Amino acid sequence: MRLRSNKRRTAEDGPEAVPAAAPGPAVELRGVRRQYGRGAGSVHALTGVDLALPRGTFTAVMGPSGSGKSTFLQCAAGLDRPSAGSVRLGGTEITGMNENELTVLRRNRLGFVFQAFNLLPSLTVEQNVLLPMRLAGRRQDSRRAAEVLAQVGLADKARRRPGELSGGQQQRVAVARALVTRPDVVFADEPTGALDTGTAAEVLGLLRNAVDTLGATVVMVTHDPAAAAWADRVLFLADGAFADGLERGTAEQIAARMAMLATRTSRAGAMAGAAA
Ligand SMILES: Nc1ncnc2c1ncn2[C@@H]1O[C@H](COP(=O)(O)OP(=O)(O)OP(=O)(O)O)[C@@H](O)[C@H]1O
Ligand SMILES: [Mg+2]
Repeated sequence: MRLRSNKRRTAEDGPEAVPAAAPGPAVELRGVRRQYGRGAGSVHALTGVDLALPRGTFTAVMGPSGSGKSTFLQCAAGLDRPSAGSVRLGGTEITGMNENELTVLRRNRLGFVFQAFNLLPSLTVEQNVLLPMRLAGRRQDSRRAAEVLAQVGLADKARRRPGELSGGQQQRVAVARALVTRPDVVFADEPTGALDTGTAAEVLGLLRNAVDTLGATVVMVTHDPAAAAWADRVLFLADGAFADGLERGTAEQIAARMAMLATRTSRAGAMAGAAA
């Protein structure tokens, strides 16, 4: 069952519902570069990223600090503009879009989960979950809220406020909120960074389940090999470009690959330093 399939679209979606995206990869980057500043002091955060992530897949992005993970996620999610190259989301070219068009696209077609949960404390759990629909001017559907809250195991918490929930429960609300619009892609930036191991596993299980049973597409940046092991594949960034990939790796294999990458990049850094 696919999140955006016509079968799952119901009358309650209303006439303002955004039409399903065109076929093709969920996320596609071609020749993406991102440079901060100009001249001698400029930083090349992304030096040429090419990738296509199929729909219904779970991808983890790892890499040493400063390798460009956050920059990649921001560019891929239309939160930042590449200096060069193109980004397509759900078959739509976003590169030439203005701020308004990007905002509409993000609200209707993308879901976000952040390390810090980012729930609004004055709203109930249900209101938080329905917030993306409210912001997009779409009908706020209590039945849809109940459905996604049930999917994350919080059917009985709809009337609570975030402050009355544990950290893990709050992040499950954030996952429900990310799924409520049946987005083309869910972008997660260190979603388990603030959680203990057991709670982290619950949240990762939900993302995994969203991919396997709802056909969602998830792209997750993480430092944690155990978290990355929940993904279908891990992509490794080094110095602004994807240097390596691993399919269905165990946490141990992923950690070993990371360690290898870290020695390679620190050696390259030391050589560059010696040459300067
Ligand atoms: N706004 C900015 N202005 C200038 N340089 C920046 C800016 N944002 C990031 N950078 C630089 O771009 C490079 C990539 O940064 P980025 O934040 O994408 O790395 P990261 O892999 O997410 O690191 P971390 O694991 O520490 O979060 C770094 O050298 C960083 O210093
Ligand atoms: Mg970062």
